[in-house]
Amino acid sequence: MLTQTKLADIIAEQEAIFVKRQPKSAALADRATGVLAGGVTSNWQIAQPQPVWLSHGAGSKVYDVDGNEYVDLHGGYGAALAGHAHPAIVRTVRAQVERGTHFAQPTENAIVVAGELARRWGLPRWRFANSGTEATMDAVHLMRSYTGRDLIIKVEGGYHGHHDSVQVSVMPDAADAGPRDNPSQVPSSTGIPRAITSLTLIAQFNDLASVARLLDAHPGQVAGMIVEPVMMNAGIIPPVPGYLAGLKELLHSHGALLTFDEVKTGLTVGPGGVTGQSGVIPDLVCLAKSLGGGVAVAAIGGTLPLMDHVASGGYEMVGTFNGNPLAMAAARAMLTEVATERAYQRIEALRQRAADGIGAAINDFSLNGSVVTAGAKGCVVFSSEPVRDYRGFLTVDNSLSNAHWLFQHNGGVFLPPWGKIEQWLISVQHDESDIDLLIANFRIFAAAIRG
Ligand SMILES: Cc1ncc(COP(=O)(O)O)c(C=O)c1O
Repeated sequence: MLTQTKLADIIAEQEAIFVKRQPKSAALADRATGVLAGGVTSNWQIAQPQPVWLSHGAGSKVYDVDGNEYVDLHGGYGAALAGHAHPAIVRTVRAQVERGTHFAQPTENAIVVAGELARRWGLPRWRFANSGTEATMDAVHLMRSYTGRDLIIKVEGGYHGHHDSVQVSVMPDAADAGPRDNPSQVPSSTGIPRAITSLTLIAQFNDLASVARLLDAHPGQVAGMIVEPVMMNAGIIPPVPGYLAGLKELLHSHGALLTFDEVKTGLTVGPGGVTGQSGVIPDLVCLAKSLGGGVAVAAIGGTLPLMDHVASGGYEMVGTFNGNPLAMAAARAMLTEVATERAYQRIEALRQRAADGIGAAINDFSLNGSVVTAGAKGCVVFSSEPVRDYRGFLTVDNSLSNAHWLFQHNGGVFLPPWGKIEQWLISVQHDESDIDLLIANFRIFAAAIRG
């Protein structure tokens, strides 16, 4: 029987191995604290036992400054569907750099990218931004501007970037979250004014009744709802059948709008995201992460009425670097040469291989958990019950997820840190041997915690 003490010992042992393999990372982390806040460039890079400083990436691999090679399934938090230094991206970006990277005037590639996104997502008009946060911020503003209403709905446990309106009940502690049927509006960071937090109403994922309650309680006041159509900041939580279509119908019946945040799911679950797979076309879609093949870019797609509102100046959607030529060239290459039908077929075979291999190990070692996958994304959920919403996610074992992460890392597979929250990302450049190492490491981890 695995006790918490034994698990803590296993984690300590793996952390010691981790640190021993990376003396140069430790030295850089030390040097960085003098000039970088917290010694990193984003708080998410402060993962225990220490941040890993990378030197470069190539294909399906990344290399740390100590020369260790990793199969990269971290994928830069889900942004590396192209893998690293993909030849089509390198060629395109190099050519564009030589022709200039920024004019703040449109270039022809923007039409090609928008046209391809319109085809894949079924939404006719598009605009661009530079990060997922900007895209969801514009979506929230646009829903408010178009409807003339201030309130929005988001689900508990949903992450949509770091602007004020969506930094509410992202990862609340059970003690702060309030009753399931009347969740509290918990600010997810300091610096978010109470007045703004109070405009964001909280529903439960996969629960239409929780949305209906909010709409009924605030008649004519809700601009719309933003939701990840497959939750991907709480492991992976798929929508139950009918949930997405039900949301659209419910919101529209109250004059409110629906935004799908496909920043993570976007190109990774399939060519047209969850929208393409489910056939439920929302009013707005936000994309970012993998769209630029590793170059920063985001996109917002919308229906004609909403985007005509932008076109007429009804909502000021702006930004110096929006649709910059470098991002548009990279996104064009990503959509036309990298994220192709053939690439998705390869990824599907690798998804299946990972799910089968890890699923078999879970059975063989009688672990309490399951593999959940969605296209190129996948994770192991250490819970006896399928997770339907954030309250279920709270019961998932984080220490096991953390131990798994450490075993993978020390065994040469880089998964995203942060325990049970994140997922792996299979890129178009991974192959069977990469997935087999993931499975082999998982078996070593499973044997250790069973032993
Ligand atoms: C679903 C979702 N939306 C929005 C964002 C914000 O994207 P960015 O970090 O590019 O601002 C993220 C980032 O992880 C995300 O997962």
